[in-house]
Amino acid sequence: MSQNLIQNTIVFVKEKLEGAEAGHDWFHIERVWKLSKKIAGAENCNLEVVELSALLHDIADPKFHDGDETLALKISNEFLKSQNVSDELIEQVLFIIKNISFKNRGEVPDVLPIELQIVQDADRIDAIGAIGIARTFNFGGFKNNLMYHPDIQPKLNMAKEEYKKSQGTTINHFHEKLLLLKDLMNTKTGKDLAQERHDFMLNFLDQFSREWNVE
Ligand code: ADP
Ligand code: NI
Repeated sequence: MSQNLIQNTIVFVKEKLEGAEAGHDWFHIERVWKLSKKIAGAENCNLEVVELSALLHDIADPKFHDGDETLALKISNEFLKSQNVSDELIEQVLFIIKNISFKNRGEVPDVLPIELQIVQDADRIDAIGAIGIARTFNFGGFKNNLMYHPDIQPKLNMAKEEYKKSQGTTINHFHEKLLLLKDLMNTKTGKDLAQERHDFMLNFLDQFSREWNVE
């Protein structure tokens, strides 16, 4: 694997994500990249595909680009071509970027390539635990959403279009997504890492509720 290519990708991604919302910035990418390498250590996989996909997976999140789901693919394709990456490798990386997202989970093939399973687990692990809580409240604040409202109930199993438009509270996001992630892990390492972070979120929600309901 070319370390030069990985280094060039890091420089490219850092520059592109300058000024991004703190939950989807370079540091999210860096954590997902490191988690991906950790998970990949226990799997038989193409590490170059894993690393490039982890680094490029949020290069143009549709949430921040008027819902455009093709922009990230376009940008990644152009970048990888400029680095003389083979067509086969580009195809593998683009497939992962296209199919990694939680909201698209109803639309992906039943059997996922191991490289996608790894990066998806890493992205989901960074969505839970203490970091997950911080990212979620940061995003909720960014959207000017309520933290919590006793009369607004979580909506489970929202269809993709509804999920994207959902104007719920940040606490509801835990029930609509974050608490579901533990059981969606693909790899053994992912499952192990997710359990501790899941339990931490349950403690947080319990404490939040006790502090909210002042006696
Ligand atoms: P994916 O890219 O897997 O579809 P999202 O981009 O929707 O997932 O979510 C990534 C992270 O952004 C979430 O884990 C959460 O921290 C934050 N986030 C997304 N939607 C919301 C929301 N409605 N309220 C609070 N945080 C959110
Ligand atoms: Ni991500």
